[in-house]
Amino acid sequence: MERVPLRQYLSLLAYYLKPQWFRVTLLAVFMFGGIGLSLLNPQILRYFIDTAKAGGALRNLLIAGGLFLVVGIFGQIVTLISSYLGQDVGWRSTNRMRGDLALHCLNLDMSFHHQYTPGEMVERVDGDTTALSNFFSEFVLQVVGSTFLLAGVVIMVSREDWRVGVALTAFVVVAFLIYNLIRSIAVPAYTAEREGYSKLYGFIEERLIGIEDIRTNGANAYTMDRFYDVNSDAYRRVLRSQIMGEIVQAITRIMFALGLAISMGMGIYLYREGGFTIGTVFLVVQYTAMLRHPLDQISRQLNDLQRATAGLQRIESLQRTTPRIQDGTETLSASGAISIEFDNVTFSYIEGDPVLEKVSFNLEPGRVLGLLGRTGSGKTTITRLLFRFYEPNIGEIRLDGTAIAKLQLDSLRQHVGLVTQDVQLFYATVRDNITLFNAEITDAQILAVIEELGMSSWYASLPKGLDTVITSGGLSAGEAQLLAFARVFLKDPGIIILDEPSSRLDPATEQQIDRAVQKLLHNRTGIIIAHRLGTVERVNEIMILEDGEIREYGDREHLVKNPDSRFSQLLKTGLEELTYSQA
Ligand SMILES: Nc1ncnc2c1ncn2[C@@H]1O[C@H](COP(=O)(O)OP(=O)(O)OP(=O)(O)O)[C@@H](O)[C@H]1O
Ligand SMILES: [Mg+2]
Repeated sequence: MERVPLRQYLSLLAYYLKPQWFRVTLLAVFMFGGIGLSLLNPQILRYFIDTAKAGGALRNLLIAGGLFLVVGIFGQIVTLISSYLGQDVGWRSTNRMRGDLALHCLNLDMSFHHQYTPGEMVERVDGDTTALSNFFSEFVLQVVGSTFLLAGVVIMVSREDWRVGVALTAFVVVAFLIYNLIRSIAVPAYTAEREGYSKLYGFIEERLIGIEDIRTNGANAYTMDRFYDVNSDAYRRVLRSQIMGEIVQAITRIMFALGLAISMGMGIYLYREGGFTIGTVFLVVQYTAMLRHPLDQISRQLNDLQRATAGLQRIESLQRTTPRIQDGTETLSASGAISIEFDNVTFSYIEGDPVLEKVSFNLEPGRVLGLLGRTGSGKTTITRLLFRFYEPNIGEIRLDGTAIAKLQLDSLRQHVGLVTQDVQLFYATVRDNITLFNAEITDAQILAVIEELGMSSWYASLPKGLDTVITSGGLSAGEAQLLAFARVFLKDPGIIILDEPSSRLDPATEQQIDRAVQKLLHNRTGIIIAHRLGTVERVNEIMILEDGEIREYGDREHLVKNPDSRFSQLLKTGLEELTYSQA
């Protein structure tokens, strides 16, 4: 794995922790306070034991006991507060980071998004950030804190007797090395376990999404068969990693038992020699027992750092990915219909395989173009270019005479309304699905649009009105289309693009949609990609695409009158001829 320079970590830490400097300082104060308190307690114990053994005053014993209790309870409170602060700092910084990344991804080109599945994106925006969260909240403080605690223990013990101090230091070094050794042996098993889980969940997710196809094709048995395989693979991985975890536990336990035995042995020896009191023996043993936690923490943190490194690298590379489509500076004038001009546009998704070739047309403001063509001929691609999801290889697209490359993307997308072939619904209320979570749109506006589009009877059927939650697949294709129209209506753009779904609707719904489309097109420039002849009845111009080239383009009236035109032939044979047969 490529190493990430320390500087990069530090600058990342500084960037996200800076706004929280107060919380971070507080966290440090509480953590060092906690360390101080835990170093204090064995000292009180020693005093207690030695005083008791020497037959000291009961009052002193009571004070020592009380102090021990107070320090213990106080220590717990301090630990509680510092772990709260640690989580708080970690989540605040990583949430900001998640936000930054999500926004960055939203602004990336469509060609970027076509490369990755939603699952991968989730992993990159959330998974990698989560791996970093520990790094933010704990790494520095835990490693520094634990090192201080270790040093504190060694110093305290050395003050009693330097030989015990040396022995304990040697033990710390050896224990640390053993820790890292067994961790490095165990980690691959842990990684394998996580992979097993993600495979299992991936499998379940994919099959659940495809449940209709699986059922209708009778693939239940095969699916279950594969499920058993994936499941038992996950089981084997979990088992292996659990056993590994137990072995690690056992080895550490034995290691610290040995450490305790050594310090106890040395303590008893020194007691016999007269150098130590019983209380001091107890103190040394207590301190030895305290080594376990910081050693464990340091080794764990160093291990986590590796995971954070991988995450950080992916986050870095994601942030380095910049959109190729650069924002322009000009804006379109406020309202009214807008002219559309395609000037010799050639475009390919994949180099050397053009999807559109030399497409030129000019649509005056307020005119409506009906776009026809066989499946795969490039109709949807035209709309994507107009929205500037992609950039043409050659040629230019102009709105009201301004090249769209010079327009601010926000302004462009505000002025173009698009209803796609398959409308995306969100698991949210009807209101949010229509406003796309824009809280500034009032219910009165929404209801007016619903009325306008002739959706009132549908609206009346909703059990909770605008608050009704739309579940996945909860709307018919026609209802979903109308809902998408409502979205566009609220946006009030100068251009409407309608990519008609190729699936059929019942005649009543079709009529309803036709009426809505007419309303939508009123005083606007429009491009309608039609799969039904009914839809193109009222358009002004017709364009027939074939393999990315304009096969026929002209005024609808003219084409209808000309018996030799491709369009008038289509009117005779029906659009099916165009859509499904090989011409
Ligand atoms: N993201 C993409 N990456 C690569 N090729 C693509 C992509 N999207 C579409 N294509 C290809 O571009 C061509 C035109 O696709 P487009 O979606 O524009 O067709 P269409 O005319 O809208 O078809 P339909 O009537 O089925 O909607 C097709 O050959 C398709 O395979
Ligand atoms: Mg299409």
